[in-house]
Order: sequence, then C-alpha cells, then structure tokens
Amino acid sequence: MKISVIGAGYVGLTTAACLAQIGHQVFCSESDNDKLEKLKNGIMPIFEPQLEAIMNDARSKGQLVFGGTEEGIAWGKAIFICVGTPPLPNGDADLSAIEGVARAIAKRASGYRLIVEKSTVPVQTGAQLRKHLGIHQSNALEYDVASNPEFLREGSAVGDFLHPDRIVVGVESERAANLLREIYAPVTEQSFECPIHKDCSNRKRPRLLVTDTNSAELIKHASNSFLAMKISFINMVANLCEVVGADVTQVAEGMGLDPRIGGSFLNPGIGFGGFCFPKDVQAFIRIAQKSGCDFSLLKEVEKINQERIGHFMQRLREELWVVRGKKIAVLGLAFKPNTDDVRFAPSIPLINALIGEGAAVSAYDPEAMEKAKADLPDIKYCADPYTACEGADAILLVTEWEEFRQMDWSRVKSTVEQPLVLDGRNLLKAEAMSQLGFRYVSVGRPSVSPGRDAALSVVASKKEVSVLR
Ligand code: UDX
Repeated sequence: MKISVIGAGYVGLTTAACLAQIGHQVFCSESDNDKLEKLKNGIMPIFEPQLEAIMNDARSKGQLVFGGTEEGIAWGKAIFICVGTPPLPNGDADLSAIEGVARAIAKRASGYRLIVEKSTVPVQTGAQLRKHLGIHQSNALEYDVASNPEFLREGSAVGDFLHPDRIVVGVESERAANLLREIYAPVTEQSFECPIHKDCSNRKRPRLLVTDTNSAELIKHASNSFLAMKISFINMVANLCEVVGADVTQVAEGMGLDPRIGGSFLNPGIGFGGFCFPKDVQAFIRIAQKSGCDFSLLKEVEKINQERIGHFMQRLREELWVVRGKKIAVLGLAFKPNTDDVRFAPSIPLINALIGEGAAVSAYDPEAMEKAKADLPDIKYCADPYTACEGADAILLVTEWEEFRQMDWSRVKSTVEQPLVLDGRNLLKAEAMSQLGFRYVSVGRPSVSPGRDAALSVVASKKEVSVLR
C-alpha cells in the first residue's frame, strides 16, 4: 500500500523504515530541512540498532522516499502522523504539531484518506482531529481517523515494531479497521523478511486489538504509566531492603515468579528517564485531572522517581563523607543502554548535583556524549571508561551498558584514588567486586567492602572471580 509517515523522529523513522521493510511503498516527510537533507542522503539523525541498515536498504529498493510534508500528504492512502508531542510547562502534551499536520491534510488532500495518529496523544485527540479536519477541509476529502499507539522501546525499536506483543488500533469504522489489518498483515502473520533474526517462522503472531479511538489512546498512557509504577514500586522496595538488610534482586525474583506480577520492569535503579515515561506519567496525571480524577497514585510514582537522585547522592555522601573537591567518574550518560538519547536521563540531575556540591566530574558513554554536551557543558568527556576512572575518588555506574560489565576492573583498581563503586543499575556483582578490592555499593542490595563480602558469604558458593552479574 502507498503509505505516508509525517515526522521522522524515533517513532516516525522506525515506522517508515519498518513499514517499507514489510512491503509497503512509504513516503516519510520531515519539516526540519537539515534533518531531511541528511535522511535523503541516508544519514541517520539518531543511534538506533538495525534502523540505519533497513532504512538504507528500503531507500535503495525505492520502497522508502524522504521529502516534504506536502508531497507526503499527496502520496499515501494511509497517513501516519508521527510528529512530536513534547510536554508543555504545565505537563500537558503540546499538540500544535499535530494540529498543523491535520490542517495541512484538510487543505491539500482529496479523495479517501485514513489518517492515523501514532504520536503519543491525550485521550480524545482523535475526536478533535476528526472535528478539525471537518472544519478545515476544502477539497473533496473523505477520511477516517484512527489511533495506532506505538510501544517501541529505544534501543530495540526495530524488533519491537516487527515482533510486537500486540498491535492496538482505535477506529470508528470497519473500513479503517480493515485497512489497518491489511497494513499490519505481514506483522500479524509474521510473514516478512526479518532483518534481525535468521528464522522467525516460530515467532508468536501478535494480536491486533481493535478498539474505539478513545480506548486506544488511553491504552498508551495507561501502559507506560503502569510500567513506570512498577519501577517506582521496586525502587521503594529497594530502599527498604537497604534498611533491613535484604536483597532486592532476590525480592524481585520472588515477586516476578508470580505471572500476575511478571519479572520484567522490576529492575531497581536511579530512576526511569527517557522521552516517554516521565512525560507520559505527567500527561496522564493532567488528563485525569481535567476529567476530575485525582490520579494520586501516579503523582507518587513521579515523586518516588524524582527522589532517586537525592537518595543516590546521600549514599555517596555516606561513603565519601565530603563530596567537595572529589573527582567522580560517571560511567553512562544515556537514559538507558543502546541509545544515544539523554532526554530526561537521570545522569543529568545527578551530575548537576555533583557539580553543585563542588565535585569534578569525568564522564564516559559509548554513544551519548555528543548529545549530552548541551545539557552538561561543565564536565570532562573521556575517550574511554578507563580514562574517566583514573584518579577517581568514586565511580558511579549510571547506565547499564554491556561495555561496563566487560571492563577489566582490576585494571581500574590500579588507577583510582579510592576503590569505591556506587552501582546505580546493579550491573556488577558485589562478591567479585569486593574480592577485587573494591568497596561496592549498589541499589537495594547489601554493600560490601574490599575482601569482605560478609553478607553474601552465607549463601555464596565458591565461584571463579568474575564481575559479570
Ligand atoms: C518506553 C516503553 O517501554 C515503550 O513501550 C514506549 O513505547 C516508550 O517508552 P523507552 O523509553 O525506550 O520505552 O525505555 P524503557 O526500556 O521502557 O526504559 C524506560 C526507563 O525506565 C529507562 O530509564 C530505564 O532505565 C528505566 N527502567 C526500565 C528501570 O529503571 N527499571 C526497569 O526495570 C526497566
């Protein structure tokens, strides 16, 4: 099918490239001319595994073309709106870009169009779209508006699109439902050439859930808010574990074995970040508020998340006594591994707190240092993690990149001022770090001192020295 995708951000670019990958003729529009020029020359504006390869493969086959909004509007029978909906100061989602695209479609498109909102939007946005398209339509435009929320995670976006847990479509007509079934048929049948896995024949066929538009819009905010709630819940349990001497990893494992709870998204740490959870929780609180519902539960989720950095800083003060004048190594700036994204990353408030207390920060991240410089201009960016750790009074693990798990920690030990590691993502293993001579403090787990892993000796069987968790 001829499909247009308006907006080439994370969601738009992944959607455009993957729809082309599964066989559609895709036109992707971008209003930022610099970005558009890059895309037309096959240059990726973001770091996302596999996306560059399938984007350029589709371009070379003529399945994917980049251009301006007007051309995009003229191209597709289905038009996916994937423009940004950033948070406004009051927490509401800024819908001006969506409205702008709707007005352009109303004025320029003719014939039948299926207009699909894929950006994360508050409930009833589809209804507003329908109304405003009707108000501004000049030509013989016949249209349906549908909601098709995305559940892509940065760092695994291509896999999440091609092998989703479910596809949600919110429609008000059978025609729109049938068109979306047709568009996603290769995914629901898993009958496409997979760029990630050799053989996908045994892969689970995802369900395509058809709802009304309002429900589909709510599924998105509710899903993200629920996942964020799980994280804040386990972070509170971690605080308790630190006080009573329990191990949150074991607690989470015990909880997660109950399929009603599930083990995923029970990893404690220094808080959730990224361009989705923080803003979606805030937007959902606002949506509820406007509808007369006080979503106090989510306000607590947000508060717990905001307090993670303060809690982590307190643990650092307990270890270092005085932070002022110390050299702190920060490993990881991205809000999570396998992305170069630092939007709402916990590393930013953490490093600002360190600087605020007079520490000198040396940092390293495999992908995100360029993007971090705008928010964190006053720190030292290092070419590798070992340089960042040289002479450090403390090493803070902030993003759980695989590279940090694989580091030679005995080499690090020989270069630091003080062998102190605070692991904000529970990436490493306490027992081995202590045997390597580190004081090791992690989240919700007993801390250990060099050569002494008292708390763990009870249960630990004699294992070879490895820091890998
Ligand atoms: C999220 C949703 O997962 C995805 O479905 C939606 O489409 C967009 O928002 P993303 O923001 O890419 O995706 O990241 P995700 O992997 O969900 O992690 C979000 C944050 O939560 C990260 O900062 C991560 O470090 C943190 N997290 C995640 C935890 O602290 N603990 C966990 O157990 C899981």
